[in-house]
Amino acid sequence: MRVRILGIGMGPRHVTQEVADALRGCDYAVAARKHDDDGLLALRQTVCDTYGVPLVTVPDPERDRDDPADYPAAVAAWHEARVAAYERVLGACGGTAAFLVWGDPALYDSTLRIVERIAARGVVPVEHDVLPGVSAPQLLAARHRIVLHEVGRPVHVTPARRLREAVDAGQDNIVVMLGGKPAFEGLEHWSVWWGANVGTDTEELVAGRVGDVLPGIDAARTRAKDRAGWVMDVALLRRPV
Ligand SMILES: C[S@@+](CC[C@H](N)C(=O)[O-])C[C@H]1O[C@@H](n2cnc3c(N)ncnc32)[C@H](O)[C@@H]1O
Repeated sequence: MRVRILGIGMGPRHVTQEVADALRGCDYAVAARKHDDDGLLALRQTVCDTYGVPLVTVPDPERDRDDPADYPAAVAAWHEARVAAYERVLGACGGTAAFLVWGDPALYDSTLRIVERIAARGVVPVEHDVLPGVSAPQLLAARHRIVLHEVGRPVHVTPARRLREAVDAGQDNIVVMLGGKPAFEGLEHWSVWWGANVGTDTEELVAGRVGDVLPGIDAARTRAKDRAGWVMDVALLRRPV
């Protein structure tokens, strides 16, 4: 059977022509169901409805977060449980399945690893391909009408929990993802271009000097969460010259 890993950008407005054509040719789409009011699942449902593809939801296994001493084992067990859950669905449904990936499959997403693991286990024989989508940093840059770096300079992308490491290593242009409430202590003189729920109806954008705009970011983040029921944010931080 065939699995098509499709980047759907930040939701229905960002499905490329290539992904739309691929979706129409799939028998069904598969997406994780994290909890009952998963707003991102609702957006995936809208994508499926638009292209006439049935959506099969896969309950996302619970992750044991209580025992940090055994963190690697807990994560490994969770990954295997996810693999088994998807494997069961593919085995039962057969045909050509679309895995709908938020943003782009190449950036902080485990779908490719899950599908590669299913293929390696060999219980369900699968072939797969990948089509790209618009990622959160791309859309952030477009909304703020910026280039992520100065002429000929590098840009560094990091999870928020490794921001300090990037700053200490001398990175000048840092895209921060996977954060909770932004923690930019010590970076008050840096510039920030921030966005929450970018590309959706509850989008919020703030830009300026970190020390000046942090309260505005906090308020905008709360607003996005109140309106959508969920919030995801991304930021570009630039060191002052
Ligand atoms: C698991 S990663 C997935 C990234 C995705 N594959 C991509 O290409 O952007 C989730 C993180 O992406 C960022 N993100 C995803 N969607 C976003 C959105 N609509 N607005 C702002 N940030 C978003 C946030 O930093 C969030 O914590």
